[in-house]
Amino acid sequence: MNKIAQIFQTLDYGPAPEGPEQAMAWLDSHGRKFGHFIDGEWTKPGKTFASRNPANGESLAQVTDGTAEDVNAAVAAARAAFKPWSTLSGYERGKYLYAIARAIQKHSRLFAVLETLDNGKPIRESRDVDIPLVARHFYHHAGWAQHLSREFPDAVPYGVCGQIIPWNFPLLMLAWKIAPALAAGNTVVLKPAEFTSLTALLFAEICDRAGLPKGVVNIVTGEGDTGAAIVNHPDIDKIAFTGSTEVGKIIRAATAGTGKGLSLELGGKSPYIVFEDADIDSAIEGLVDAIWFNQGQVCCAGSRLLVQESIETRFITKLKKRMSTLRVGDPLDKSIDIGALVAQVQVERIRDLMKRGTKEGAIIYEPDGDLPGGGCFLKPTLVTNVSPANTLVAEEIFGPVLVAMSFRTPEEAVALANNTKYGLAATVWSENINLALDIAPKLKAGVVWINGTNNFDAAVGFGGYKESGFGREGGREGMGAYLKPGWEKTLKAAPVAKAAPAKDDNPLDATHLDQTAKMYIGGKQARPDSGYSRPVRDPAGKLVGEVGDGNRKDIRNAVEAARGALAWSTTAAHTRAQILYFLAENLDYRRAEFAARIKAQTGDDGAGEVALAVERLFAFAGWADKYDGAVHNPPLRAVAAAMVEPLGVMGVVAPAALPLLGSVALIAPALAMGNTVVLVPSGTSPLSVTDLYQVIETSDVPSGVINIVTGDSVSLAKTLAEHDGVDALWFAGSADASTMVEKASITNLKQTWTSRGLNYDLSDRRFEGDYFLGKATQVKNVWIPYGA
Ligand code: NAI
Ligand code: MG
Repeated sequence: MNKIAQIFQTLDYGPAPEGPEQAMAWLDSHGRKFGHFIDGEWTKPGKTFASRNPANGESLAQVTDGTAEDVNAAVAAARAAFKPWSTLSGYERGKYLYAIARAIQKHSRLFAVLETLDNGKPIRESRDVDIPLVARHFYHHAGWAQHLSREFPDAVPYGVCGQIIPWNFPLLMLAWKIAPALAAGNTVVLKPAEFTSLTALLFAEICDRAGLPKGVVNIVTGEGDTGAAIVNHPDIDKIAFTGSTEVGKIIRAATAGTGKGLSLELGGKSPYIVFEDADIDSAIEGLVDAIWFNQGQVCCAGSRLLVQESIETRFITKLKKRMSTLRVGDPLDKSIDIGALVAQVQVERIRDLMKRGTKEGAIIYEPDGDLPGGGCFLKPTLVTNVSPANTLVAEEIFGPVLVAMSFRTPEEAVALANNTKYGLAATVWSENINLALDIAPKLKAGVVWINGTNNFDAAVGFGGYKESGFGREGGREGMGAYLKPGWEKTLKAAPVAKAAPAKDDNPLDATHLDQTAKMYIGGKQARPDSGYSRPVRDPAGKLVGEVGDGNRKDIRNAVEAARGALAWSTTAAHTRAQILYFLAENLDYRRAEFAARIKAQTGDDGAGEVALAVERLFAFAGWADKYDGAVHNPPLRAVAAAMVEPLGVMGVVAPAALPLLGSVALIAPALAMGNTVVLVPSGTSPLSVTDLYQVIETSDVPSGVINIVTGDSVSLAKTLAEHDGVDALWFAGSADASTMVEKASITNLKQTWTSRGLNYDLSDRRFEGDYFLGKATQVKNVWIPYGA
């Protein structure tokens, strides 16, 4: 038989290796030893460690383990560069970003090969996915730089941004961080992950050659300690982190109370839902991309297959067949599907998890065949016979391991899909568009792909719900994450509230008051669990009333009521608007009574405050059906519908001042956007809000949508912060208590807004708009196949 006939018989792949020569030559040009890139210069290498090729274990180069002094130098350079960079015109900054994009395209193969050498991902992916997306990101943000002043008129950059990135998409994560930061006018200190520093260093050289002003981009290499030095540096204004949820929580705690901006893009355990009417062959190919792209080391990997029971057997059979054709091997080979994992520790970590899962009853399937020796390789793996509690279902594996479960009904699919602490992405396969579009809004995830998977684009925001983090990268939301309102930087300390004169009260003296104002939980008046009440005094110390002294139990009941009322989030925006208008109208009818109550508590004439509270309710009633999403057109046959969704249950702890408006200004935006609320009113003047329940009751607000718990603001805030049933928490109060709130909220990584003792004057009309609307919502991007 001749050679060609033989090839036809086996249809086997021959080797198609990509040459490493140019990448090696670039490393050689640096003597295979790197310092940091600080202030436009290479520093002398310090103590170094090896960056290895995980496909063969060989050292590619030595990189410097950054010290605290190195970080200091980088931050100083970034600080010095900030003013000139941020005051350049957007057009000028955009031209630099454009030049970087062009240079990346020009050297795309060098970047792709270096990335594959250092990370182990198949060259097919680094060449066709990572690097093109990097270039696309810089192009997209070149445009934002120029249009910023028009699109974000009152916004200013944070200043110096510390950016810490993982090893799974080394250059792409760098681009996601650096492009928007620079477009907005920030300067950056970025630390690549210790396993994969090399493309960040090549990028530094590209910046240098593009003439980027010195100090705008600083790259400091190193391990976790170097990252921690960045996080804790006092002269950094914002931290952006992508990596494990564990480290994300450490960073949340470390930045608490510092006023640093923070965005976290963390882990995931994303569901991949296949309905019985799906195009099965396409769904299988999608699944290959979902879980075996980048060896499964993808935060949004579709790692939990949920397949409808009626097609389960057929689907799993086909899947196993497809798995047996996946080729694992040399990442530089162009016809390889699965390359090497990033490092041996990751291989061990995955093996340990598999052992635990098997002990708990999981059945493991791997296709036949040998793995290449000498590198960090694992076979594509399918796990069955698992319940939701199995370690392999609950934990992020971050490897080529798919767990499969089945469901019977769409309701069950949604329940299983959402049964996770994470909420990064989800995929839905069905030929029935009605079904797919019915499911997408019910999934608690920042990205939903319909009949597709792992699509990314610079114009489409990416980021998580729940413990997958907060903040978005890409698109308008991603730009917003590197900007803040100009006025916020100029806030002064809030005036210290005049405490009512202390008195040694006999608690029985209060009995002449006819009643203690009740709390309001689940649409009913409620007595405090403690059985105690708190005095409310005027500035002269005279007792003007009493309220219940709420505790942990009252907060628990209120949160439960608020969770039970979450149908509010899917109530039509028009209806929510009508109810808020009605609330405003009913409050207005009783303005004299409410004004008198304010006067009794504070001594101030309350008429103006009541009028503003009514106006504020009107403002947010008006926003309810207007603060909405967008449709993006990524360069694919799809649209991405950016849907604005509520956060869920919000804790709102109102300031001591402005007894009525202080609460109304915070709950109105939360309610308008579809959140339910547990409100802790002013600790010193709570009666204006306990009076409000009568207005709430006459305004058609469904039970449980607004819950009111009176008591000590700080201790109730702590309980709210620690409660996993609370999705977000706003706290107006002292700097110390704000720090406590931010720290205590790490358990479920709730989003927080705190006033940090600053003078946020809620009567200012600047709070009538998107400031709080943005903080009361998160954007979900739903990718829908579309177009000819
Ligand atoms: P990691 O979260 O420790 O590393 C990410 C980055 O954070 C690296 O640059 C690292 O040097 C830095 N870092 C580590 N400790 C730090 C600290 N205390 N302060 C500041 N920066 C710090 O992730 P690791 O250990 O590499 O991987 C462990 C697991 O985390 C993976 O198996 C995977 O499950 C998950 N992971 C998730 C990622 C995602 O994109 N969602 C990315 C990387 C890891
Ligand atoms: Mg490496």
